[in-house]
Amino acid sequence: MKALVTGGAGFIGSHLVERLLNEGYEVICVDNFTLGTQERVDKFINNSNYKFYKIDINNTEDFCNQLKDEKIDIIYHLAANSDIQKGGKNPMVDYNDTFMTTFSVLELMRRNNIKNLFFSSTSAIYGDEKGLLMTEDLGGLKPISYYGGAKFASESFISSYSYMNDFNTMIFRFPNVIGPSLTHGVIFDFKKKLEKNPNELEILGDGTQTKPYIYVLDLIDVIMMMTKEIPKGIEIYNIGVETATSVTTIADIVCEELGYQNVKYKYTGGNVGWKGDVPKFQFDLTKIHNKGWHSSYTSDEAVRETVRHIK
Ligand SMILES: NC(=O)c1ccc[n+]([C@@H]2O[C@H](COP(=O)([O-])OP(=O)(O)OC[C@H]3O[C@@H](n4cnc5c(N)ncnc54)[C@H](O)[C@@H]3O)[C@@H](O)[C@H]2O)c1
Repeated sequence: MKALVTGGAGFIGSHLVERLLNEGYEVICVDNFTLGTQERVDKFINNSNYKFYKIDINNTEDFCNQLKDEKIDIIYHLAANSDIQKGGKNPMVDYNDTFMTTFSVLELMRRNNIKNLFFSSTSAIYGDEKGLLMTEDLGGLKPISYYGGAKFASESFISSYSYMNDFNTMIFRFPNVIGPSLTHGVIFDFKKKLEKNPNELEILGDGTQTKPYIYVLDLIDVIMMMTKEIPKGIEIYNIGVETATSVTTIADIVCEELGYQNVKYKYTGGNVGWKGDVPKFQFDLTKIHNKGWHSSYTSDEAVRETVRHIK
């Protein structure tokens, strides 16, 4: 089996590349190093089953041309802008790196008759539906970040391309993912702030923002489990953990694990970290649980384990 991993030099992508290689796949990785790193490519470069292309996937013609002779069985499409705040300052970032990368992938599939797709979507497509349980078939979605909007638009294009070209498609909507080799996000922000000032920690919002954090290796397990044989048509799954962690609890765990004591928390106030942030949400995981999969780490455990790795 030959798999193409877009965004394979990124955080989740590089874990996926490793698992695919370990399971005997040939892997083509494409990345342009927007947020990916050379180090995550160098790790595999001597493996004869691994090939790396540095391509800006937004450039549809270049992407399709460079990969036209590769006989690909399945595409794991992970390339996107993963920095929601950066996209919040400039909508073009998500239009290009979150939506257009998807369009290019779909074009490659259509032109090269590639039939199998895994797409990494996000809980952000649900928007801020206070108190509502988010099931996969919830309609009338109103994403509130450009990132969520671009992922939702991607899902729509994927749906139409899947129907028009008989693709077999698996869409996963997942929340925050953390674990070894993470390079940005709230845990990093806290670590950096504490290195600068070990006595006081600024926390965006009021600290009650509470989200599920899934451990990256749990996510890789379920991706592999569900993509060995993708059923015909298009399937959508919420993927996550039953528990959630508040921002203040993350601060507590970071301080505890990194050995900072008596730190004074300074909240910037308001119940969101930044505009476009969804402070709380409830994900329905029944569909994936019915497939026999549960995450092995709780949200708090995932946070603690990640801080230990960073340490
Ligand atoms: N990390 C999370 O918490 C989370 C949550 C939900 C969904 N996701 C999705 O999972 C996927 C992977 O996320 P991640 O955390 O590993 O992010 P990441 O930023 O580490 O990985 C994304 C990769 O895509 C690459 N990329 C971006 N634009 C590109 C372009 N135009 N051409 C080529 N490569 C490009 C980046 O360089 C990066 O290596 C993304 O689609 C993200 O939206 C992530």
